Amino acid sequence: MIISQYMKNEHRKCDTFFAKAEEAVARGDWEVAEEEFLTFSNETLTHFKKEEEELFPAFEAQTGSSEGPTQVMRYEHEQVKGLIGKLAEALENQDKDAYLSLAESMMILLQQHNMKEEQMLYAMCDRVLPPETKECTLEAMKKVKF
Ligand SMILES: [Fe+2]
Ligand SMILES: [Fe+2]
Repeated sequence: MIISQYMKNEHRKCDTFFAKAEEAVARGDWEVAEEEFLTFSNETLTHFKKEEEELFPAFEAQTGSSEGPTQVMRYEHEQVKGLIGKLAEALENQDKDAYLSLAESMMILLQQHNMKEEQMLYAMCDRVLPPETKECTLEAMKKVKF
């Protein structure tokens, strides 16, 4: 389960940064909020890049399908990116209400997205990819930079 382990850990890390940003916004500490949000968005976008450039293509090559779950995941990444843009705008305007309401939507979206990946896609990758492919994919993902 090397894929699942590595990727789940990244999900948890992103969740933590997001929660810290939200807490900072709630108490009006905009400087910390900005810092934590920046880390959250960099980590999240790097994670998406690892999936889109390494993991999904490996899965698609193995299963011969690029129209299944990976397509849904790519679409959801675009939705998350859209929300990141809106959250950044709320942060820029120091608009607490807008930020907190967008943060609510983001949490729901990410929770559902991550759950699907963890329970379905990552589990499938760990099951169907040959061990060497898993090792290579994991190593390639570790090298991806934002
Ligand atoms: Fe994803
Ligand atoms: Fe993910």
